[in-house]
This record gives sequence, structure tokens and C-alpha cells, in this order.
Amino acid sequence: MDKYAVVGNPISHSLSPQIHQTFAAQTQQEMTYEAIQLDTEHFEEQVRDLQTRGFHGINVTVPFKQMAWEMADKLSPRSKDAGATNTLIFQADGMIAGDNTDGIGLSRDLIVNHQVLIEHRKILILGAGGAVRGVLGPLLAKKPELLTIANRSVDKAEQLVNDFSHIGEIRACAYEDLGNDKFDLIINGTSAGLDRQVPPIPDEILGINSICYDMMYSHSESTAFVAWATERGALRAFDGVGMLVEQAAESFFIWRGVRPETDEIIHQFRHQNVSS
Ligand code: ATR
Repeated sequence: MDKYAVVGNPISHSLSPQIHQTFAAQTQQEMTYEAIQLDTEHFEEQVRDLQTRGFHGINVTVPFKQMAWEMADKLSPRSKDAGATNTLIFQADGMIAGDNTDGIGLSRDLIVNHQVLIEHRKILILGAGGAVRGVLGPLLAKKPELLTIANRSVDKAEQLVNDFSHIGEIRACAYEDLGNDKFDLIINGTSAGLDRQVPPIPDEILGINSICYDMMYSHSESTAFVAWATERGALRAFDGVGMLVEQAAESFFIWRGVRPETDEIIHQFRHQNVSS
């Protein structure tokens, strides 16, 4: 059996084992996939130990995505741009390759699963941390009219503008400077939702046709941002469960060369949300 895992700290609540085991059964792949908690001080050592023990690859989650990026022997262009790695491939020649499937996961969930148009649309992203950096490349590649990044610390948003303006139209601002401009798509990439908070954004940015997307997801109830959007009459509001499944599907494809179906498992998680 080929062995895979997701590593993080903490990791016990990860849905990745359930997702990858479902993919493996569906595509008849002989593989195992488990969740492993690593120490923050010994990340690289412990990853090399997994490689020695015959694992074929791992997913990497909080707080290790940057460390994985640093330790990889080679990076895909999208992982290089993202400054983070969520997928490591232990190659037969001993090299460790790094990739990042978060951005493609978000863009697939938006475009394919929810039929949201990005091309020629005005997009607002809230937040300028690692999660946002990871998705900017694939979003800009879909040619929005303008992508605005709003963040509490504006300098971090400006840094992202510097790093990504070669790919498309992008600008930075503070939340209080958002004014009355309406956006077609508003994506929350902040971690404010962990404390059930929403960044201080004015209601006026939401038009009757605005779509909201939270890169976070919640097992039990709407995320704070989805609740904010729904209460204010957003046309549609989604949490990030589809992004989670789609990034997993892309990692699975990188490792196994087979693309799994994602619809059923996304619906299963949605149903769990509704019923619990
Ligand atoms: P991640 O890897 O999840 O992106 P991060 O790099 O620590 O984590 O970034 C967290 C993001 O959430 C940042 O944009 C942060 O804003 P600052 O850069 O100004 O700190 C944002 N954030 C966290 N809590 C927030 C809150 N309560 N309100 C608004 N933004 C918040």
C-alpha cells in the first residue's frame, strides 16, 4: 500500500483523511492516508523521517506551509509564487518536490462548482496573510477587471501588490478606504472568523448581485462571514468546504495521476453542516 498523510499542528480535526480515503476508494487506488501531528521545532527532521519510512507524499497544513516551501528541493511555479507549499512529493530519486493546490482549489470551487465569473469582474479580497498569497496567482490568471486587497495592516496588502502586479490589475487599501464601491465577488481570506469576527467592512460594498466566499469553513453553523453576507442580502454566500475538497483533489491528482470526482463528498459535507 502506498502511504500518504497530512501533517500539521494541531491536526486531529482535519477532514483530509476522510476526503483522500473517499477519493482512493472511488478511483480504486491502493493507498493509505492518515493525519500526523508534527512538532513545530522538528518539522524538517520529521518530514525526512516520513520519507525514509516510505511515504510517497504529504499534505502540509497550518503552521508548516512556509517551512515545507523552504525545505523542498524544487518548487512548481504556483508554489513559488504562493510562498507556501501544501503538497510535498517524495520522488523515487530522493528529491522532495513542493506544490501548492490551494489557489487552484479556490478557483475550481468558484468557477466550476458555483459557476461564478471572475473574468472582467471587480473582486475584493479581505486579508493579506499566507492564505491570501496562496490564491492570488490563480485568481489573477482568470483576468478580473480589478482585484482589490483590503487589510488591517495596509503595508502587507501593498507588499502583495508589489509581488503580483505583473500578473494582473491589483491594488491595496485599508478597510476604512473601501467607501461605496460595490464588488461582484468578495472573498474573505482573513483568520478573523476563528474568533467569529468579520473584518470591519462597510455594508455599502455589497450590491444586490454580490457574491461572497469565505475561505474558511465550519462544521456546525455558518461561518461569521457567510452569516454577515446572508444577513445583508448577498446574492449568494459560500464557505470554503468546496475549496478544501478541490485542493485535496488536485493533490491526489499530482500523486496518483487520476482526477477524483468531488461533487459527492462536497454535498456530503454540506449535508452534515445542515443537519448538525
Ligand atoms: P493565514 O496563513 O491564515 O493567512 P496570517 O498570515 O497570520 O494567517 O494572516 C492572517 C490574516 O487575517 C491577516 O490578513 C490579518 O490581518 P493583519 O495582517 O492586519 O494582521 C487578518 N486578520 C486576523 N484577525 C483579524 C481580525 N479580527 N480582523 C481583521 N483582520 C484580521
